Amino acid sequence: MESGLKPMDAEQLRENAHKMVDFIADYYKTIENFPVLSQVQPGYLRELLPDSAPTHPEPLQHIFDDIQAKILPGVTHWQSPNFFGYYPSNSSIAGFLGEMMSAGLNIVGFSWITSPAATELEMIVLDWFGKMLKLPEEFLSAGKGGGVIQGTASEAVLVVLLAARDKILRRVGKNSLEKLVVYASDQTHSALQKACQIGGIHPENCRLLRTDSSTNYALSPNVLNEAISNDVTSGLIPFFLCATVGTTSSTAVDPLLELGKIAKSNDMWFHVDAAYAGSACICPEYRHYIDGVEEADSFNTNAHKWFLTNFDCSVLWIKDRNALIQALSTNPEFLKNKASQANLVVDYKDWQIPLGRRFRLLLRGYFH
Ligand SMILES: Cc1ncc(COP(=O)(O)O)c(C=O)c1O
Repeated sequence: MESGLKPMDAEQLRENAHKMVDFIADYYKTIENFPVLSQVQPGYLRELLPDSAPTHPEPLQHIFDDIQAKILPGVTHWQSPNFFGYYPSNSSIAGFLGEMMSAGLNIVGFSWITSPAATELEMIVLDWFGKMLKLPEEFLSAGKGGGVIQGTASEAVLVVLLAARDKILRRVGKNSLEKLVVYASDQTHSALQKACQIGGIHPENCRLLRTDSSTNYALSPNVLNEAISNDVTSGLIPFFLCATVGTTSSTAVDPLLELGKIAKSNDMWFHVDAAYAGSACICPEYRHYIDGVEEADSFNTNAHKWFLTNFDCSVLWIKDRNALIQALSTNPEFLKNKASQANLVVDYKDWQIPLGRRFRLLLRGYFH
């Protein structure tokens, strides 16, 4: 680097951040003028950018000009009111402001000690959110459960599948991995299949059971019962059921109460994927869609879909946090600290795949 080149100081942050906010405010004001779907062709950006990184810094205005000319044409405008692709992923100004605060503090809150406020705020706000959804008390942090923010619903289903897998293997023996069977409907998001692949479930043991218009594409308890009993007869071990409230393709809603009872009577883990529709169940008139969630071991919804929260924010509640912790914790010397050793605190590193995590709740709950 050229000598004399200095990182920006707090005053430059003040000046440039104002410009950045102005740029984004103007973007929101004019967002409807853009074609929602980016019109560029694959590889378009390589033509427009140099082969190697610039050796000199440029004024912010040049960067804004580049963003206007080269980046915005390659953006598909998810925040446009005319965006109707895939699923809604609308944030809000409040969510965006929270994101700024989180970026500004930029902590890495994997253990309580690494920033106590990050862990404690997440626990409190997810208890609030759980109460808004009228989740059973076991999902709240006062007991053995609690909520945790995962990046995505795919991570949520993966971590609970790993917790369920380890729990059953402790009971039936590690050599039985090949015999474990997972159940869901054929409308279930492919995230479940990915979790099975990562979790070492035998590819033939992920049962995506047929649905049809007679049940509005919901999983039929009879079909599930039949599949389970066939598998038990064949010497396999049913261990995980994933129901969906609002499938991505057809918004089908599986009957949680009946499915949950089947899961319980077969000693299976019952996960409810409400990634798409879950937030709507805060409204009293939609709450009945998650009636039966009392039977679930874990419940997930994507706040970044309908809860006006910036991507990525997938909220997972679990009744038995120890099941997650036993499957996912490691305790190397360099992470040890008094609060953790004394079991006084939650260390979210043990509830997720990565070690590091952002101060997510400032942006994703507190402002709403
Ligand atoms: C019902 C459901 N489950 C899972 C997913 C996967 O979501 P994510 O991108 O958060 O992994 C989606 C996303 O569309 C979904 O709608």
